[in-house]
Amino acid sequence: MRKFLTYCLLAIIPVLTSCSQGAGSVQENMPVDTAKMQWFDNAKLGIFIHWGIYAVDGVSESWSFHNGYISHEDYMAQAKRFTASSYDPEAWADLIAGSGAKYTVITSKHHDGVALWDTKADDKSLVKMSPAARDVLTPFVDAVRRRGGVKLGLYYSLIDWSHPDYPNIYRNGPAKYDIAAEPERWQKFLDFITAQLDELTAQYKPDLWWFDGDWEQSAETWKAKELTDKLRSDNPACIINSRIQGYGDYGTPEIGVPVVRPADRYWELCYTINDSWGFQHKDLNFKSPQMVLKTLVDCISNGGNLLLDIGPREDGSIPEEEVAVLKELGRWTSKHSEAVYNTRAGIPGDHVKAYTSVSTAGDVLYIYLPYKPIGPVEVKGLVDNIKKVRIVGSDIAPQWKIFNKLSWSEVPGLLEITVPDDALDSAITVIAIETDGPVSLYRGSGQVITMNE
Ligand code: GLC
Repeated sequence: MRKFLTYCLLAIIPVLTSCSQGAGSVQENMPVDTAKMQWFDNAKLGIFIHWGIYAVDGVSESWSFHNGYISHEDYMAQAKRFTASSYDPEAWADLIAGSGAKYTVITSKHHDGVALWDTKADDKSLVKMSPAARDVLTPFVDAVRRRGGVKLGLYYSLIDWSHPDYPNIYRNGPAKYDIAAEPERWQKFLDFITAQLDELTAQYKPDLWWFDGDWEQSAETWKAKELTDKLRSDNPACIINSRIQGYGDYGTPEIGVPVVRPADRYWELCYTINDSWGFQHKDLNFKSPQMVLKTLVDCISNGGNLLLDIGPREDGSIPEEEVAVLKELGRWTSKHSEAVYNTRAGIPGDHVKAYTSVSTAGDVLYIYLPYKPIGPVEVKGLVDNIKKVRIVGSDIAPQWKIFNKLSWSEVPGLLEITVPDDALDSAITVIAIETDGPVSLYRGSGQVITMNE
């Protein structure tokens, strides 16, 4: 009776197949275009670049004047000392491609309004304002495109706190005008944005638009629908981030590592290596390469990407600490590439106390160990037959054994994997469990005997 009851209960307990876990809410106004999103879904790692005149004095990008820490005049005066004298776009592209990143996003223009390319829409560009006196965006785009394998994203701030027709400069400052009272003036600003976006489309045809600053105006005021419709008709394959008041393709949590899986089907964590987006001399609070790797596998485990930021100095050199992180990412992602790209979100943490993912084909479960295990790694509730257990990037075979598998019970046995010390990676070790079908899980509560039966 006891066995039978258990069996019946088991029959109605959902067995969860990890391949089907992907759904979630998407941007409210956008249908999901899975074909278009495929490269992004497989990318896992992107490199963000914040480069601008703020790197001269090492103040926060645009916010330093907006929040009143320095005057707008002093902030803009940094442009006169922006040299790009050691700028080596080929080395940047090598570093990025070498990190294993599959896309890069560079600030074409931050909220301060200073363009990195030779915009004809106004006079605020490094070409016209700085001793660098040249378009620094084009050579980077060319270097990235030449290498292949890395998609190009352009960060573009909708806000331009330095533009005469944008209503405000300072957070608490007086508004220059009221949009509702002067719609023609606001339209002039929107025409300016359109002109800049047209230039960027014509010159670079980015694979991804990374908008920022949408929060200052509503979707209607930005004319977000018209704006994104135009970008999509100019380039139907382009992907747009979420900071465009509901008209983007994927979610963009910032810095705070999500604790539970974000609702958006596609998402990316944008993340600083220290505590700043742009270069700041005083900010030495760098995360270690291992900490960044841990965040990468955390994102992978939750079905998202990591967009990791670097902040070059005004001369174009990249801080050594950041170079070290990207190099270590490169070492680790190339050794473990099968467990990085073409993977999907992992299994619930109830099954194994580690980060996990599942291969796109569904029949390999990857377990990422950011710690040196003291004893065997334990996996609960794996329904499938195991074909093989391997350590990714190592020839040393781990020992594994299944305990508690009862012939009369549907509850899967406890899988215990012993990882030999010499198979451990210096940062994060990855176990691959090959199964005889799509990874499926027992989600029941064991030998349930109800008290009131
Ligand atoms: C924020 C900030 C900005 C930064 C961006 C990167 O929205 O406004 O300074 O560039 O996030 O995610």
